[in-house]
Amino acid sequence: MRETARRWGYREICTPDFEHLELFTLKSGEGIIQEMYVFEDKGGRQMTLRPEVTASVLRAYVNEGKVLPKPIRWCYFADCFRYERPQKGRYRQFWQFGVELIGADTASADAETITLADELLRTAGVTFDLQIGHLAPMKRLTQDLPPEGQRAVMAHLDKRNHAGLEQSLAEIGRDDLFEPLIGLVDSRDPAAVFEIAGDMPERSRIEELFAILDSMEISYTPNFGIARGLDYYTGMVFEAFAPNLGAENQILGGGTYRLAHLFGGDDAASSGFAVGFDRVMVSLGEFPLEKTPIAAVVSTPEARARAWEVARAFRAAGIQTEIDLMQRGLSAQLAHAAKTADYAVILGRRECESGRVTLKNLHSGTQQEMTLAEAISGVSQHGAC
Ligand code: HAM
Repeated sequence: MRETARRWGYREICTPDFEHLELFTLKSGEGIIQEMYVFEDKGGRQMTLRPEVTASVLRAYVNEGKVLPKPIRWCYFADCFRYERPQKGRYRQFWQFGVELIGADTASADAETITLADELLRTAGVTFDLQIGHLAPMKRLTQDLPPEGQRAVMAHLDKRNHAGLEQSLAEIGRDDLFEPLIGLVDSRDPAAVFEIAGDMPERSRIEELFAILDSMEISYTPNFGIARGLDYYTGMVFEAFAPNLGAENQILGGGTYRLAHLFGGDDAASSGFAVGFDRVMVSLGEFPLEKTPIAAVVSTPEARARAWEVARAFRAAGIQTEIDLMQRGLSAQLAHAAKTADYAVILGRRECESGRVTLKNLHSGTQQEMTLAEAISGVSQHGAC
């Protein structure tokens, strides 16, 4: 993921694990506030472990990045903390890989964010369903509702909770909205969405975005029912789901937002997303890690100084190398190496005199005396053991 983001010009940023509580109470929304690990520091300040990274990145932008040429492309890999009811795929500490694109307000910027997300997930090898929507049609249909009513309706739509939606609309006397709202979230055709919600200024940007994605052959489903759990989104919103996960199958979420002005900066239009890294790992299942050979330099006491030199040469060649730190005898060192390493590089009196080493393959048991260079290349060429 890092490598893919780097190829798109995104540079990694590292923000603190905890922040002033206010950073998140300003705009991130009720849901996230309920879920935060809040504490008071010794100075009596209200602090919180970060529940997400977007607000921190935008704070960093306001503090340090305003003078940088725009757009700014930043990525991060960070652990986040949410006081939720733990369950499969929902943790109180979890990792996000995310990107924020700050200062670009175009359909191209929206398209870059989505296309990069798609490529990141593809590179990771996970199977996913990408859903893309926009808040404007839903906001247009619910514009006359009081803010709490609008929030409740959007939350029900996001969770596809038809019964809850019906009840909330009945409570505020707006049953007439049920049909059009359901039509909106069920529609997979943007043209039909504008027929239901009416024409709107955002239409051309939405159509341009879908046109770019189609030209890039990105596979996605339009979904105008996506509302997102965080309150700072302003327009395009998108999510990805892994079909092989259970209830907690959302592996990515993002969209366009504005936050910088709340933290004392300019009104920079931004977009971004975060991948739920733990969920991606669960979705991938068994993940073969590349295993490189390990060498253990074992030596008699008189060859100890030479052992340090040999280990240094092996490490300089990129080989993972260990030496004895326990003053064990040669046979005890070999017995230990058989448990932890793939090769033993043996140094005794004879090797000290000849300036050579004995390389033992700890799997096959074969051993041979050779030059240091030959031993290094022998271990390097072995590749995965
Ligand atoms: P989010 O949807 O709240 O968005 O989180 C992003 C992803 O983090 C989710 O799709 C999910 O995969 C993962 N995630 C969330 N909570 C948990 C949890 N308790 N356990 C495991 N994984 C979890 C954000 O955080 C936004 N900051 C994304 C963004 C960036 N929007 C714009 N820029």
